[in-house]
Amino acid sequence: MHAAIQRRLDAAIAPLRGRLATPALLIDLDAVDHNIGAVIRRCGGAPARWRPHIKTVKQAAILDRLVAAGVTTLKCATLDELSLALAALDALGDPQREGADVLLAFPLHQDAFHAALALAARHPRVGLTLLAETPDHARLLDTWAAAAAPPARPRIHLDVDLGMQRTGAPPARWLAHAAALARLSNLEIIGVHGYDGHLTWTQTAAAAAGYDALVELAARLIAAGAPIAELVTSGSHTYPTALAHPALGGGPWRHQISPGTVLLGDLRVAAAADDLGLRQAAFVASRVISRANPVRLTLDAGTKAISPDRPSPTCEVLGWPELFPQVPSEEHLPVKLGGLTAPPFGHLLWLIPDHVCTTVNLYRSALLLRGDEIIGESPIAAAGRAPWLL
Ligand SMILES: Cc1ncc(COP(=O)(O)O)c(C=O)c1O
Repeated sequence: MHAAIQRRLDAAIAPLRGRLATPALLIDLDAVDHNIGAVIRRCGGAPARWRPHIKTVKQAAILDRLVAAGVTTLKCATLDELSLALAALDALGDPQREGADVLLAFPLHQDAFHAALALAARHPRVGLTLLAETPDHARLLDTWAAAAAPPARPRIHLDVDLGMQRTGAPPARWLAHAAALARLSNLEIIGVHGYDGHLTWTQTAAAAAGYDALVELAARLIAAGAPIAELVTSGSHTYPTALAHPALGGGPWRHQISPGTVLLGDLRVAAAADDLGLRQAAFVASRVISRANPVRLTLDAGTKAISPDRPSPTCEVLGWPELFPQVPSEEHLPVKLGGLTAPPFGHLLWLIPDHVCTTVNLYRSALLLRGDEIIGESPIAAAGRAPWLL
């Protein structure tokens, strides 16, 4: 399997030999389409059950593939991603754009709130939903919305801490403030958001317990007068538990899962790849830049080419199981030689990142593979950060 992928990548890149500087990111669009289809099938054929987080892909070429498959609700974390997502959904014609919406799933401070509203104002035909982090944050959002010019009444999801201890208030705190929240006239509270990224693939009981709590919160908020119409949960490690949870999918609301890493795949989402039959869609092309030592070589894929958010190794070398990536520095990746053969100086190798989301963020553009050909370059418009002084 790996050998076939490696041959295809090598053949596709062959016409570029002699002018391809590495490290370079390559995205296999056929694999992306396959992965999108696999997730939608897993959602019972309903693209509306999926609100993919676009922090993994950050580029219009892949958002276009999602909307072509019928996905019209997206999730993001940054203003750069928001800008890209709004534009991708705005490009849809009528009536496909109906209900198109971006959930900016990040607690905004006042300046980011105004920047988000300004971006949304450029795309009035696409919905924007924001996150309230705590009841106090909801009150701040309400005040900022009242003072916005033109006045705004943003749609809001209440962010629930399901044990990740990152953002959001526990269900009991939201419930204690339910009546007061219903009186906030400048916010339209429409949903509940719970992300459980601290859980692993096998922690299904803990995931289900979190969803029980979310469902109970949603039902009690509805009883208190809040029109909760959406529950958004789960990434690439917990979506099966969410899809199998009868009450999540069976309430008087729409339930959506939001895995994003599954679009491209990496070493971390191996369990989801098995479950969904994913194809690896992102590779870093890297060259051997040192053969000075008999027991190691060095590649040009340091931490500025493949992000090191966990202890090493940061990647696997496609088709070379006897090459063992070691601790990288900024531009260099030492690799221990474990076998009798080793690639020579200048040899091009394909690396599969341990964490693809933060790796894509390092590139300004990716090579796009379709069939057996490199068909162009895709700007990664939401990579890095802009200050958004709108
Ligand atoms: C709030 C939120 N939703 C969804 C996701 C997507 O999860 P995954 O990367 O596991 O696909 C993330 C990932 O960081 C997230 O932070």
